[in-house]
Amino acid sequence: MDKLVIEGGKPLSGTIVIQGAKNAALPILAASLLAEGTTTLDHVPDLLDIDVMLNILRELGCRAEHSGGTVVLDTDTAHTSHVPESLMRQMRSSIFLMGPLLARFGETQVYLPGGCAIGERKIDLHLEGLQALGAEIEEIGNRIICRADKLRGADIHLSFPSVGATENIMMAAALAEGKTTISNAAREPEIQDLQRFLNAMGAKIMGAGSDTITIDGVQSLTPCRYKVIPDRIVAGTIMVAAAATRGQVTLLNTQPAHLSSLIHVLRRAGVQIVIDGDIIKVGNASRPKAVERIVTSPYPAFPTDLQSQVMVLLTLADGVSVMKETIFEGRLKHVDELSRMGADIRVDMNAAFIRGVPRLYGATVEATDLRAGAALVIAGLAAQGRTVVEQIHHIDRGYEKIETMLSRLGARISRYSPVPNN
Ligand code: UD1
Repeated sequence: MDKLVIEGGKPLSGTIVIQGAKNAALPILAASLLAEGTTTLDHVPDLLDIDVMLNILRELGCRAEHSGGTVVLDTDTAHTSHVPESLMRQMRSSIFLMGPLLARFGETQVYLPGGCAIGERKIDLHLEGLQALGAEIEEIGNRIICRADKLRGADIHLSFPSVGATENIMMAAALAEGKTTISNAAREPEIQDLQRFLNAMGAKIMGAGSDTITIDGVQSLTPCRYKVIPDRIVAGTIMVAAAATRGQVTLLNTQPAHLSSLIHVLRRAGVQIVIDGDIIKVGNASRPKAVERIVTSPYPAFPTDLQSQVMVLLTLADGVSVMKETIFEGRLKHVDELSRMGADIRVDMNAAFIRGVPRLYGATVEATDLRAGAALVIAGLAAQGRTVVEQIHHIDRGYEKIETMLSRLGARISRYSPVPNN
């Protein structure tokens, strides 16, 4: 397994262009199945999760090429709606395929995406939404068979604003007969991006970004060319890394409005942030201040996907901060690893009480999931001495060559791959 070796203590400095958003690209790739023909997507990041999604689409019969950030996807030749279990288990986001496959083929067979390091991650809201649109759902062990001769618009209220369920329902409803309303819908920017993409293909969807989305079903969609939004979580990760290393970084290709909750928290911690159009400048020269209370919640509140990274900054702050995780029950695993680096954190239920220390120290630590891994990289960059981060395949799921990106900002970070035996 690859690992990252970081010699810490060097402030990040320089300019970086932010990659396209993984969490926008994945549902958009799935949604491409709704239109027969060739869709071209620009600004698609080169990541493990994207590779898995493209492999699933190829397995379904599509032709897919990904180079220089552009995916050319021909869905004309798609001939099956059955996703193999082995591929399904590689990535939870494969669940996004249910809505588009059901809408295109009238049936689909998928498998439960399985457990996950950050918590149980149920799919009941996805299934209830598709059922409301007229799908019959049969669960046999971990196999899910979904059938619908015709999808019909419906009023769907989500008991929780699930990102994935909102997206799955939008995709299925785009080709349903009549009008669908999703209330208590998730409001994340990636949902707005999916709406823009579907509308560019001819769908009639309104309201993404608010808690009520209406979809007027159309008969068919036409392929298009589309550019994916910048990745707000990658941007946020770099902003926190700049602050934690007391560096000075300029981020290009961002959408600052998508980062307003993080910007608010960083400013409370004393970090200097200047916004100029799609450019964000982050600078921090002194010890961060503690932030009394941060609670992760659905957008536009503070994102769970930046919880672990911001926690690293708070481990170095002057005073005690509290971070409460309300989205995923198992998402504080990085606390043990950060403690091995000298952080002083006490966990009580889903809240972490973080007493700032003057410095962290390098150690060998393990990435337990994607964002926890990113947090450990930030900790390694800020720490005194050498940090080795293991299990970095998790990080490769969401960050395009993280060591190259950070080296360009002056970090001393290298990847080591095991030497093959033969
Ligand atoms: C998406 C993001 C992920 C982010 C998360 C929350 C993608 C590819 N992934 O994941 O990075 O951390 O949003 O912002 O976009 N839930 C149910 N039943 C369901 C669906 C969800 O109970 O049917 C629960 C989950 O267990 C979890 C919470 O709702 O506790 C949030 O899940 P959801 O918003 O669906 O997240 P994802 O779409 O999986």
